[in-house]
Amino acid sequence: MLPRGSSWYLFALVALSAWAVSSADDTELKEFVLTLDHSNFSDIVGKHDFIVVEFYAPWCGHCMQLAPEYEKAASILSKHDPPIVLAKVDANDEANRDLASEHDISGFPTLKIFRKGGKSVQEYKGPREAEGIVSYLKKQNGPASAVIKSADDARSLIEEKSIVVVGIFPKFSGEEYENFTALADKLRSDYEFGHTLDAKLLPRGESSITGPLVRLFKPFDELFVDFKDFHVDALEKFVEGSSVPVVTIFNNDPTNHPFVIKFFNSANAKAMLFMNFTNEVAETIKSRYRDVAEQFKGEGISFLLGDLEASQGAFQYFGLKEDQVPLIIIQSNDGQQKFLKANLEPDHITPWFKEYKAGKVLPFRKSEPVPKDNSEPVKVVVADTLQDTVFNSGKNVLLEFYAPWCGHCKNLAPILDEVAVSYENDADIVIAKFDATANDVPTETFEVQGFPTVYFRSAGGKIVQYEGDRTKEDIIDFIEKNRDKATASSVSQEVSEEEKKDEL
Ligand SMILES: *[C@@H]1O[C@H](CO)[C@@H](O)[C@H](O)[C@H]1NC(C)=O
Ligand SMILES: *[C@@H]1O[C@H](CO)[C@@H](O)[C@H](O)[C@H]1NC(C)=O
Ligand SMILES: *[C@@H]1O[C@H](CO)[C@@H](O)[C@H](O)[C@H]1NC(C)=O
Repeated sequence: MLPRGSSWYLFALVALSAWAVSSADDTELKEFVLTLDHSNFSDIVGKHDFIVVEFYAPWCGHCMQLAPEYEKAASILSKHDPPIVLAKVDANDEANRDLASEHDISGFPTLKIFRKGGKSVQEYKGPREAEGIVSYLKKQNGPASAVIKSADDARSLIEEKSIVVVGIFPKFSGEEYENFTALADKLRSDYEFGHTLDAKLLPRGESSITGPLVRLFKPFDELFVDFKDFHVDALEKFVEGSSVPVVTIFNNDPTNHPFVIKFFNSANAKAMLFMNFTNEVAETIKSRYRDVAEQFKGEGISFLLGDLEASQGAFQYFGLKEDQVPLIIIQSNDGQQKFLKANLEPDHITPWFKEYKAGKVLPFRKSEPVPKDNSEPVKVVVADTLQDTVFNSGKNVLLEFYAPWCGHCKNLAPILDEVAVSYENDADIVIAKFDATANDVPTETFEVQGFPTVYFRSAGGKIVQYEGDRTKEDIIDFIEKNRDKATASSVSQEVSEEEKKDEL
């Protein structure tokens, strides 16, 4: 089971799956990757000052792609001084499930770096091909912050595409230096850290700086930013805050992906503008959007600009269509609400955000079209008809949340059919189904964590989840036990619905 909100990661990962496919030419006999399981995990990890563990599942495609690269890296790193050990755990194996949940494994593969016998654990955030794994891990195994003694040191550390945090000190001791080092230890798998006695060595260096000072280099916006508060928490906030671009770019360029992941992990509301980057108004839209992003900086909204070409996953996830671009969608920070502005023109951007901030934009909901023919025994409910069919009908409704690909749902379908047929002459009972992949589930009322999930709403408004056996008899028993008399409001409700339609 994936934790709540993890669909963000899924969508990001599917969209970002730029995993290297390996050539299958290395047929080494000795396996360098250690196999661990629940029986020896603590023991082996406890004995290592530095060990990397991959939690994988045998059926996972990305794990299979990683396997030969990981093995190759393990073989190279076994010759490193001191040797760096790579290991793996089959997290899908029933016996290892507890171990996996202890380590919060919510997707595969997940790689973790265990230091000091497992006393310190960090997520592996490096590349997935052998060479990249090797160089990332060599760095991870070295000091958290690299000393910069020459301009060459500085150049090789401060690459153009990543965030590098450099501490400039008059001497490598004292509380400031210690706090900086502590932070480097904590955040080393997310950022590059370096320290120097000589600010002149840095790109755009100024000889006047003697420190203590922290300078963060970034490949976007103002390119570097300085900070002088050495409280560990303040320093961490500074690093986290400064390393988010004003507008995150989401396209097929893998160097942007770490920032995209950060965007998705942010606790802010998320504004996403999707469009075709080769469109002729693209530049105008970009610059207006950027203005808005600058204007709303620090107000709890993160901004992303996505190229249509890279955004298929997002479109599916939000139920968007290509003919709606350029569009902006905002997802509230709790993920419960979405706001959409489709077919955007440059002049719409600022006013629309102002309306959104003023609470004047109505939420948008993903829904399939209302079915024209709904005469099968099991009624089709979509997000747009949920209110009328389930909440306002005054009837007793058994509602199945399903996914088209789910096998248990397929098995349940004929049983629900039989149940529906047996109630065909009972106007107070409705048996219905809801495709939870194509429609937004109102999560404030229904908790849908897996498929199928079946709920019953009695005519009087009582909501119970069905957790009995998936047989006709048990479902009917359950309905009989929980049903109420249809409420009179059903009639007036229907009338008023009719009236509404007439008015339109
Ligand atoms: C851990 O135990 C498993 C199963 O007993 C075994 O296959 C594996 O080789 C062991 N790993 C190590 C590193 O000893
Ligand atoms: C170092 O960090 C600690 C903990 O945040 C803080 O109490 C201390 O004042 C910091 N030292 C300096 C010089 O900022
Ligand atoms: C974006 O626009 C260009 C030029 O009009 C077009 O060739 C391309 O197919 C469009 N891309 C997508 C994903 O629609």
